[in-house]
Amino acid sequence: MRARRALLFMPGNDLKKIEKATTLGVDCACPDLEDGVALNKKEEARETIARALRALNFGNTERLARINAFGSGFEADDLAAVLPARPDGIVIPKVHDAEQIKWVSNWITAFERSQSWEVGKIRLLAMIESARGVLNVREIASADKRVDALVFGADDLAADIGAVRTREGKEVFYARSAVVTTAAAFGLQAIDMVYINYQDREGLTRETREAFELGYSGKQIIHPNQIDAVQTIFAPTAAEIAFAKRVMDAYAENNRAGRGAFALDGKMIDGPTIKSAQRVLARARAAGKI
Ligand code: COA
Ligand code: MG
Repeated sequence: MRARRALLFMPGNDLKKIEKATTLGVDCACPDLEDGVALNKKEEARETIARALRALNFGNTERLARINAFGSGFEADDLAAVLPARPDGIVIPKVHDAEQIKWVSNWITAFERSQSWEVGKIRLLAMIESARGVLNVREIASADKRVDALVFGADDLAADIGAVRTREGKEVFYARSAVVTTAAAFGLQAIDMVYINYQDREGLTRETREAFELGYSGKQIIHPNQIDAVQTIFAPTAAEIAFAKRVMDAYAENNRAGRGAFALDGKMIDGPTIKSAQRVLARARAAGKI
């Protein structure tokens, strides 16, 4: 799976920001049709996104678009406008249950067939940001083969459950943990909440490290000056990569000699250490570091 360390949103009607996003070396760019776009700008945003996805060179940056939620009344027109420009994936906000994923996926399948495109190529990223979404996260995660990632939305969740957002985030911690744990159970990526105070680099770094320690593989961002901190934290360091390679080499050698657990640098290495070394190498490959 491709790296999705930072997923940068910008309003879909803001061509200048979409253009800028293609120049920043960010893993994912996601022009928005949902809450970042005023009601009277939805049509303009659809046209702008379709044009931008067609015309601009995104390089290695993933070409996403966020549609409006299922049941909003906008979702079908959003898909009809954006899919002809062949995005790499669609971000679906406020996913409450598996049926909503299936509806979008079936829509895309019909469209892919109509164009004679390979079915399943366009990926889905499902946002979990409502009480129902949290309760149904397991069904959502396993609803469809197109789903690559669960994206945790803290602010909408807090609004939905009547919680007050705090700096520590204890009010969303249960959901934040449920999303990352469920993603792991189904082999999906987990993408953490937005840090809206985009001038506060220290706060962003703290929250991103926390996400990384919880097991998240990426974070949503809203401003170019958040890219560097986030992509650095989610990419393994050179020292981590070097250690992981040594673990895998030692593992191969000990395995041949018929040993399961063995020692390296005075520490015991066995199943979990090997698994985490494999993860480090997978992340390094996805980030283009090896
Ligand atoms: N994507 C791409 N470029 C962006 C950007 C974004 N999300 N946010 C800012 N930029 C660009 C600006 O256009 C500006 O470019 P320039 O120097 O070439 O003129 C540069 O980065 C500096 O921007 P700045 O002046 O600091 O910010 P701003 O006042 O233009 O915008 C926000 C601030 C919050 C309105 C803007 O960052 C934004 O729209 N973020 C995304 C909001 C969104 O999509 N929300 C919904 C999903 S959560
Ligand atoms: Mg939202």
